[in-house]
Amino acid sequence: MDYESPLKSPSPQAWTDCVLENFDTFLLDHAAAEKKASGMALSMVSHYPDKARLVLAMAELAVEEMVHFREVVKIIQARGLTLGADEKDPYVNSIRTLLRQGSELYLLDRLLTAGVIEARGAERFGLIAKALPEGELKTFYRSITRSEDRHFELFLGLAAEYFAADIIEARWQEILTFESQAVAELPIRAALH
Ligand SMILES: [Fe+2]
Ligand SMILES: [Fe+2]
Repeated sequence: MDYESPLKSPSPQAWTDCVLENFDTFLLDHAAAEKKASGMALSMVSHYPDKARLVLAMAELAVEEMVHFREVVKIIQARGLTLGADEKDPYVNSIRTLLRQGSELYLLDRLLTAGVIEARGAERFGLIAKALPEGELKTFYRSITRSEDRHFELFLGLAAEYFAADIIEARWQEILTFESQAVAELPIRAALH
């Protein structure tokens, strides 16, 4: 990790071990996670078409996440695997309970929950990149990590466009604390979350 992670607790070693032991399962979930990340960025564009900076940032993010999806799909197909149907992600569902009603609060929470999900994803891609033996997969996960490890800052930067620093910081800390507990409570799976 060549940046300061904002997360309040690291992922357990048991998570990395589980992924390495079930890498095909992890790859299928990784592809789904990239597709969902791209879809989430597009849904932000649909929800906030009048926010110019947000629209451009989300359009760029949607493309970047879709490129990741394409690359994971290539790996999956080279291994003779087939994509599955999308499944609900218990981690993302847990984080989404943080979303509050009211257009201002909802926008702030959408940006900051997206930020924390990105931060956890980047941490975990970094753990996989570190744990894999030298080879094409390790190189791929290194490049994914480099691409993902600043996405959380993109969402914090957008929040700063629309909200005061003290309001962002207070809510960000609440979300980080909640996220850390959610990770500790959810079962360990061969999945990004
Ligand atoms: Fe991605
Ligand atoms: Fe991302």
